[in-house]
Amino acid sequence: MSNGTSIEDIRMNASVSYRRGHGAAGREVTEKLTQNRILTNNDIDALTVLEFAAQDILQKYHAAMRQMEARLETLDQDLKLRRSRNPIHHIESRMKSVPSIFEKLERYGKDATLEAMEEYIMDIAGLRVIVSYIQDAYTILDYLEHQDDLEVVTVKDYIANPKPNGYRSLHFIVRIPVFFLDGKKAIPVEIQIRTIAMDYWASLEHDLKYKSVYEIEGVDVGDELKACSQIISGVEKRMQIMANALEGQKGHPGSSVVQKAKRMDLAQTLEAPASVAVTLAEDETELG
Ligand code: GTP
Ligand code: MG
Repeated sequence: MSNGTSIEDIRMNASVSYRRGHGAAGREVTEKLTQNRILTNNDIDALTVLEFAAQDILQKYHAAMRQMEARLETLDQDLKLRRSRNPIHHIESRMKSVPSIFEKLERYGKDATLEAMEEYIMDIAGLRVIVSYIQDAYTILDYLEHQDDLEVVTVKDYIANPKPNGYRSLHFIVRIPVFFLDGKKAIPVEIQIRTIAMDYWASLEHDLKYKSVYEIEGVDVGDELKACSQIISGVEKRMQIMANALEGQKGHPGSSVVQKAKRMDLAQTLEAPASVAVTLAEDETELG
């Protein structure tokens, strides 16, 4: 554009204007957004300025997210060549919106500034990796930990230690180096790895927990969700044993079924599949 009012100019002006003091206005807007209060025209201007000012930074997170996704796809293809199956079922990606970034800063008691956003918000770029089996989640994390330019930080293993409500997934932050015009930067990307079954539970729980009725006709939704999570976990362990057995049959080195099961703490389940079946059946009866 030649008349000097290109989007790039507006973005630059927004950046300068933000640094001259719109940060405070941003905080006010965030407060109003979180309390569902009506925004004035000034608030909307401030939010627009904030959104524009954040574009520069968000673009970097977006690039990091795409590069991380490509790495995961490469890993998936490589693992497929070795194991004749894709461990990754599919990958979802999302960028956090500017209002929810500032709402999180508010929750953390931090200033609504771009600097704070870069320092404290680790899930601006997020990837959700849906895998077939529990062991696939750990395999992927292990391979990423061995890529020497990546830094895996803050692993939260909600598979080994489910949340009190029954939520299970493997969460971690990876810092990936990305090259820009102004140099290299290690950008954090939040990765959540979960199985298809864990994803099924989390999606439904997400819906159900926002339903206003907690207790429906004498059924405690919280207890019910937790019980479902435990049943799913049991089913997944049995599926894993079958997968291990199949891989063992394909003659992979050192892949004796019991060996693999032991590594996953499944030995007991493996030795007594019938009792597991009974436990599951009992659980289902209780749900009745
Ligand atoms: P956030 O402020 O939500 O980002 O939480 P956090 O920074 O303490 O991280 P945590 O690892 O607990 O959760 C991050 C994300 O995992 C959430 O944004 C959800 O996508 C997902 N998650 C965590 N807990 C639950 C849960 O109980 N149910 C569902 N459905 N999803 C969850
Ligand atoms: Mg989050």
